[in-house]
Amino acid sequence: MQPKSVNFSRTTITELMIPSYANFGGKIHGGILLSLMDKVAYACASKHAGSYVVTVTVEGVQFLQPINVGELVSLHASVNYVGRTSMVIGIRVVSENVRTGEQKHTNTSYFTMVAKDDTGKPTEVPALLLETPDDARRFLEAIKRKELKNAYAGEFDNEKSRLKVEESRELLTKERCVVGF
Ligand SMILES: CC(C)(COP(=O)(O)OP(=O)(O)OC[C@H]1O[C@@H](n2cnc3c(N)ncnc32)[C@H](O)[C@@H]1OP(=O)(O)O)[C@@H](O)C(=O)NCCC(=O)NCCS
Repeated sequence: MQPKSVNFSRTTITELMIPSYANFGGKIHGGILLSLMDKVAYACASKHAGSYVVTVTVEGVQFLQPINVGELVSLHASVNYVGRTSMVIGIRVVSENVRTGEQKHTNTSYFTMVAKDDTGKPTEVPALLLETPDDARRFLEAIKRKELKNAYAGEFDNEKSRLKVEESRELLTKERCVVGF
């Protein structure tokens, strides 16, 4: 299959932060940003796939700096990796103070999206054209992230199944909690 042009693999959405997006302190709610990130991930992935897509997982969401009302937020998305039917979309969020032009990077996250056909079944997506060493690095990083996530999930499931509340009471005494049973 011919890789699609890299033009189909990048998308940017820019949005002005209005008061209804904010809390009483004038800071933008995290959920508003998550919704914008989901939108740009959808736009980016569906353009690459040429079909509709669904969000499967969201990773790496950390709000590093607050965003204020009146700032202009740009969400830059790129297809970092493609599997058979899934795509990892990297999203970089940058917020700009329009008066001073000062920009801040507020977060980078990774959305896994799956392409669906008209019957709702996962459908194959085009291969990704890696035009630069940076494109290749992002692709390889996505593979590594997936491997580590799978290993972590397995290990965590083991730990969880071994966890006994009664045997772990001692641990709780070192934490900021009061055991009331
Ligand atoms: C995710 C979903 C498509 C998987 O469907 P499925 O019939 O199990 O399909 P498959 O097992 O063939 O998986 C399809 C792809 O999803 C990937 N996938 C499935 N679960 C995943 C997970 N937890 N994390 C990352 N990728 C996952 C698979 O690796 C596969 O990718 P590949 O084809 O590139 O190898 C299906 O569960 C779904 O539609 N979920 C709901 C998504 C949705 O509605 N999102 C909006 C939330 S409101």
